[in-house]
Amino acid sequence: MENVIKELEKRRAEARLGGGEARIAAQHAKGKLTARERIDVLLDEGSFEEYDMFVTHRATEFGMDKQIIPGDGVVIGWGTINGRMVCVFAQDFTVLGGSLSETHARKICKIMDMASKVGAPIIGLNDSGGARIQEGVDSLAGYAEVFKRNVSASGVVPQISVIMGPCAGGAVYSPAMTDFIFMVRDTSYMFVTGPDVVKAVTNEIVTAEELGGAITHTTKSSVADGAYDNDVETLEQVRRLFDFLPLSNREGPPTRPFHDEPERLDARLDTLIPDNAALPYDMKELVLALADEGDFFEIQEAFARNILIGLLRIEGQTIGVVANQPLHMAGVLDIDSARKAARFVRFCDAFNIPILTLVDVPGFLPGTAQEFGGVIKHGAKLLFAYSQATVPMVTLITRKAYGGAYDVMASKHIGADVNYAWPTAQIAVMGAKGAVEILYRNELGDTEKIAAHTKEYETRFANPFVAAERGFIDEVIMPHASRKRIARAFAALRKKKVDMPWKKHDTIPL
Ligand code: HXC
Repeated sequence: MENVIKELEKRRAEARLGGGEARIAAQHAKGKLTARERIDVLLDEGSFEEYDMFVTHRATEFGMDKQIIPGDGVVIGWGTINGRMVCVFAQDFTVLGGSLSETHARKICKIMDMASKVGAPIIGLNDSGGARIQEGVDSLAGYAEVFKRNVSASGVVPQISVIMGPCAGGAVYSPAMTDFIFMVRDTSYMFVTGPDVVKAVTNEIVTAEELGGAITHTTKSSVADGAYDNDVETLEQVRRLFDFLPLSNREGPPTRPFHDEPERLDARLDTLIPDNAALPYDMKELVLALADEGDFFEIQEAFARNILIGLLRIEGQTIGVVANQPLHMAGVLDIDSARKAARFVRFCDAFNIPILTLVDVPGFLPGTAQEFGGVIKHGAKLLFAYSQATVPMVTLITRKAYGGAYDVMASKHIGADVNYAWPTAQIAVMGAKGAVEILYRNELGDTEKIAAHTKEYETRFANPFVAAERGFIDEVIMPHASRKRIARAFAALRKKKVDMPWKKHDTIPL
């Protein structure tokens, strides 16, 4: 008995060493943690249950029969984050560069299947040289098995990808089909084809960092939802995000104890809107004032900054926020902001997370770049996403709600349940100046008349009362009472139930 226990201990120690001490030191020298160290940071202490520690590949070609390492380059299992279950896989770069073999893929599939079956989120820590070159089509088949599972788990359990090293070739498509991607600055990159292939095909000279580093993917491509300075910070932020999410689509969003009075009044909000409607203000101040303890997890902070998206809690319950940001491009809707918000609205709806929409939008951005880029289709994504959402939805118009953007930004007409406006709201087809220039084109030379028409238009429409008279706005509320009113609205909507007509699936304008 003692011998077999010793044998087990020996085998476990061997497996835990992965590619060996020299490669672990090389990993540390790059500022990266090993797969197991990362799992230790991600999960609650002592909660990790590992599976398939002794799995090995069965390849024999290209000397693979002499490179057999238990675990085959990926650590899988489950554990808890603040007491709630999560399934995890972490690729081990010290074993054949974390490359994906047939068996490596099978391990990932095993833990993904478990996550879907038991209703637990899946977090993948990616650090891999891609398909294991020695295995050829077997490794490509392995990737495809993972892709298929990403799709069937989509909307069933939250899926989070953390890119903590190279992620190249078709390997990027598994993360791309998950709900969130986070990257580590300077040590991670993602691209379909690397700098050498880019140079050969397009003659462009570009570094891996420029082509697919964290800055590129958080500011230009929007592939990644956030980036942090090192492994530990990244994993800690993933823990923070996890706390906001339900475990699966079978559950409501989590609620947790709160120490912030839901009825809290905030006098600062009465002066948030500048007297001059052309001046910007920071919508994030309102978001933070509404959130329990001012805790807001912002997503895609560095991309399409004219719209803010993220998660907060009100009365302890998770709420998704979509808010126009007047500080950037006057909070206008455009291709990037519409896509960013649409994806988030669909995520919230899939996982029963109520949506709060804060509106200050001058309309859609005009111009050839937008029209040629398909702003019609991209804007329609947001309209579609809101119209389709059945979770509780509360909307607050703080200032401008002009034109089609009024309809799109969770108006009553497309399904919001409770629509509030501040007294500073202006709900109209367009701003007074633009309206008068169209309506009174023949009188443009007469500045006095134009000024009078502008004043008349402003008096009639630069307020929330016409919409309130129609019942499109349920109530004009005091800015300082916003948290209280919004908290009560969501409380009233907690048991909301909507039945949608049967269909196989919709045909969202992708
Ligand atoms: C097998 C691999 C490997 C791979 C790396 N290694 N990638 N082994 N298959 N794909 C091995 C290396 O041989 C090396 O082994 C060890 O991992 C560490 O790699 P290094 O090159 O020393 O590390 P580094 O300098 O940090 O460079 C990392 C790297 C580079 C940039 C990822 O290794 C690289 O370019 N690898 C190939 C990437 C690639 O082309 N993959 C295929 C992509 S196509 P030793 O024994 O020396 O330590 C793809 C298709 C998927 O993935 C399709 C899905 C549809």
